[in-house]
Amino acid sequence: MTRPEAIAGVSGVDLAGRTVLVTGATSGVGRETALALARMGARVFVHGRDREAGRAVATALDDLGADPVFFRADFANPESPVDLAAAVGEHTDRLDVLVNNAGAYVDEPRRSDGVELTFRVNHLAPFALTRALSESGAFAEGARVVTVASAVHPRADAGDLSREAVTSVGDYDGLQAYARSKLANVLFTRELARREPDLRANCCHPGLVPGSGLWRDASLPIRAGVGLLSVLPAPVLERVADSPRSAAATSVFLAAGEYAESGAYFSDCEPTTPSPAARDDELAGALWELSEDLAA
Ligand SMILES: NC(=O)c1ccc[n+]([C@@H]2O[C@H](COP(=O)([O-])OP(=O)(O)OC[C@H]3O[C@@H](n4cnc5c(N)ncnc54)[C@H](OP(=O)(O)O)[C@@H]3O)[C@@H](O)[C@H]2O)c1
Repeated sequence: MTRPEAIAGVSGVDLAGRTVLVTGATSGVGRETALALARMGARVFVHGRDREAGRAVATALDDLGADPVFFRADFANPESPVDLAAAVGEHTDRLDVLVNNAGAYVDEPRRSDGVELTFRVNHLAPFALTRALSESGAFAEGARVVTVASAVHPRADAGDLSREAVTSVGDYDGLQAYARSKLANVLFTRELARREPDLRANCCHPGLVPGSGLWRDASLPIRAGVGLLSVLPAPVLERVADSPRSAAATSVFLAAGEYAESGAYFSDCEPTTPSPAARDDELAGALWELSEDLAA
């Protein structure tokens, strides 16, 4: 199966001497992103919730000479991103790439410290982690921040990002909550690029990945739809969906490739226009302020 770095056209890039952190690297797209960056020579730090899965990916990275460190943190806990940044800071003050990949689909209405859980895990955690790393001086000059969003983001709009909407779980809809969190990823990237011109901040849609762990907590109809995709014959499946490996290509491209953009949304390793709401600078600014208030 073709490697993500080959799909992204960056196999020849040498990342020796570079340090990267990939969140949510214990499975799916994040695991494949971490392995690809290790094959390219980077030192790779990985994050996840599960110690066993963390040990497994760290062993695979060690075999590639990536000198890995596994950090455990559950992003449902509001303090965990800041604790993670502090732990990473004990190992490096020169982080070249942060890949905000960890993400969850939450089917049940749940809140964490007064905030809807999907928004907490998928948006507030990368927001707080990125800011804590930046404020502590852990980023190298010109560091790249890659945030894994989704093509589902156009399902959400400004109304989904009000304080009331992100703190309540009345009339909960898992897909809408997921879409809102992914719209927040795109707006966060846009505002981060504006506020921190020394960073290169971009986000991406990885592809549709029925074989990742994302869908395990989805509703029965969604799991059934994803399950149906998985039984399609390989040549058909390849046309409509991605493997975790091929889906890592755009993250790998943004981590290692040549491009000029910051604040952009990419798909298939190309800049792509996101939804109108995702291009709303006023909304991006308002979301930043709300996120500062809700993050911890
Ligand atoms: N799959 C798709 O079709 C698709 C499409 C568009 C975008 N995406 C995005 O791609 C990214 C990777 O997803 P994936 O498809 O590779 O799914 P995955 O296999 O479920 O991987 C998600 C990763 O995030 C971690 N994670 C989940 N909840 C967490 C929490 N509360 N605290 C800390 N870590 C947590 C998971 O750890 P555990 O193993 O402990 O759960 C896992 O390492 C996500 O941001 C997702 O939204 C996926």
